[in-house]
Amino acid sequence: MRNYQIEDLPDYFKQYKKSIKNPKKFWDNIADKNFVWYQRWSKVVDYDMTEAKITWFKNAKLNIVKNCIDRHLAERGEKTAIIWEPNDPKEEALYISYNDLYKRVNKTANILRDLGIKKGDRVCIYLPMIPELAITMLACAKLGAIHSVIFAGFSASAVASRVNDCGAKMIITSDGSYRGSKVLDLKSIVDEALEKTESIENVLVVKRTHNEIKMKEGRDHRMADLYEKASEDFVTVIMDAEDPLFILYTSGSTGKPKGMLHTCGGYMVYTGYTFKNIFNYKENDIYWCTADIGWITGHSYILYGPLCNGATTVIFEGVPTYPQPDRFWEVIEKHKVTQFYTAPTAIRSLAKESTEWVDKHDLSSLKVIGSVGEPINDEAWHWFNDHVGKKKCPVVDTWWQTETGGIMISPIPFVTPTKPTYATLPLPGIQPVLMDDKRNEISGNQVTGNLCIRFPWPGIARTIWGDHQRYKETYFSAFPGKYFTGDGALRDEVGYYRITGRVDDVIIVSGHNLGTAPIEDSINQHPAVAESAIVGYPHDIKGNALYGYVMLKEIGEGRDRDNLKKEINQLISDQIGPIAKLDKIQFVSGLPKTRSGKIMRRILRKIAEGDFSNFGDISTLLNPEIVDEIKNERLG
Ligand code: PRX
Repeated sequence: MRNYQIEDLPDYFKQYKKSIKNPKKFWDNIADKNFVWYQRWSKVVDYDMTEAKITWFKNAKLNIVKNCIDRHLAERGEKTAIIWEPNDPKEEALYISYNDLYKRVNKTANILRDLGIKKGDRVCIYLPMIPELAITMLACAKLGAIHSVIFAGFSASAVASRVNDCGAKMIITSDGSYRGSKVLDLKSIVDEALEKTESIENVLVVKRTHNEIKMKEGRDHRMADLYEKASEDFVTVIMDAEDPLFILYTSGSTGKPKGMLHTCGGYMVYTGYTFKNIFNYKENDIYWCTADIGWITGHSYILYGPLCNGATTVIFEGVPTYPQPDRFWEVIEKHKVTQFYTAPTAIRSLAKESTEWVDKHDLSSLKVIGSVGEPINDEAWHWFNDHVGKKKCPVVDTWWQTETGGIMISPIPFVTPTKPTYATLPLPGIQPVLMDDKRNEISGNQVTGNLCIRFPWPGIARTIWGDHQRYKETYFSAFPGKYFTGDGALRDEVGYYRITGRVDDVIIVSGHNLGTAPIEDSINQHPAVAESAIVGYPHDIKGNALYGYVMLKEIGEGRDRDNLKKEINQLISDQIGPIAKLDKIQFVSGLPKTRSGKIMRRILRKIAEGDFSNFGDISTLLNPEIVDEIKNERLG
């Protein structure tokens, strides 16, 4: 039990109370003081949480790139905006100043415009972690095109479904990528994807590797050829605060991935505000977030949040263990990183190595260290705090989502005392509530419930691209009038939050959100498979691993089981990507189903975890006998 209450944190509490009492004034003030606008808003916020209609900074005009680059030129033109650290430490790092970034973005925006891209068009970006990833995103934003970055680990099918969903006119890719000791051929994945799409008119190819690639006449263009000739001047397109900035796909518990749509004004204000406060950012800091830009963490906290604040942000192409397990620590020492933001899965995998790898590097530049993406377990938290932060850097365990645009619950360094495994307190402006299953708000402390947010914030996604009904149903119908996060949480005796994990069928594996439905759909396409169910089970490094229960058709019964397992995983890899491959597959003769036909996943989860103690009430099952059968096979 700690000996203080939130009220005893005067700096936080005063701000927080003010922000809740008058949220409009609070956000008006932040938007006004920290950003440049072509035109001010006529109203701070308009919302209807039942219809899922939310507008921030109505009628305001801006361009996020003016805020991220142009406005810094006078004061910080020669300051490094981006440090690019390549996969191979023998290759030289690249230092891109704000002046240089300005020119590169302008040239790229001209290339896009010359290829017919205009305001409102969708551009998919399928690139490794190279500077062009950031530059092409900024170029889209500068000309008003909507970027949709596709993580470069996704398969051709996943690329095709995203391109088709958003109707992209262009895709930007590279001749390949380097990750650790692997060289991947991204261009041929794109070629395969484009066989299943019709909207793409042009493919822009950045050179990164020595891969030989095929170019399709008239459709494919080499960036380098166009870059030479492109002008360095570009007139920024003026955007409305509610014009779309980007679409980013995230897995849902059912159906196809959801194209979360973020808009220009609110997203800028929210990422700028949170970056500055959560990372205690100061002018000469060197900030490094290890996420991939293909995920929301990279969008908000490698690119937009840091650049909005005129920061120096590190983009790292490689992986934590290449060439050796001290790569992260080597990079921190090399660039004198002051803020280091990573994921529990990376921490766990590095904590398993000898501490000599960390100890041999000088990490004294660090001031704040952060974690994101999934609950951080006690052991990982302490290892991170002791060996990386040397017990002197606040650990910011930041809870948020693709949908929230930016960090929502997190300690504020040097203000909020940290507590291992707790994301602690909501940021000023954010109003979390815990709800019970009967839709009642749970008051008081030392309680658990479904985590919802009561009042909108500027960074919230405005819709699912092309499917507002799904947006409304997914986030605003379970607890009417509130945004439902899909997470469960605990509030301790002081009011600190600890996120306990998803309460729906989304499983977080190595920090990646995976919906069970799309994986099951892929498995079920195997000709020998009748039905399948996926659950998560605890894994030392990945947090969760995937366990698949697969029921075969008669034709599958006689087949070699090991081969079938391989084929099933290959199918998943082809359709979604290697990250969704199953760690364990158990063939079963049936799945436990309720009378209404719903698979009782909590039982499958317990069996996967190896916990056979108490299956609870199984009386509603149509086939209760299957539970023992599955359990015995698992044991056998
Ligand atoms: O379950 C929560 C978990 O990650 C989910 C959001 O995933 P995604 O949209 O991919 O965004 C990840 C990066 C923001 C959440 O619903 N999550 C994220 N951060 C934390 C977390 N769970 C516990 N603690 C966190 N700090």
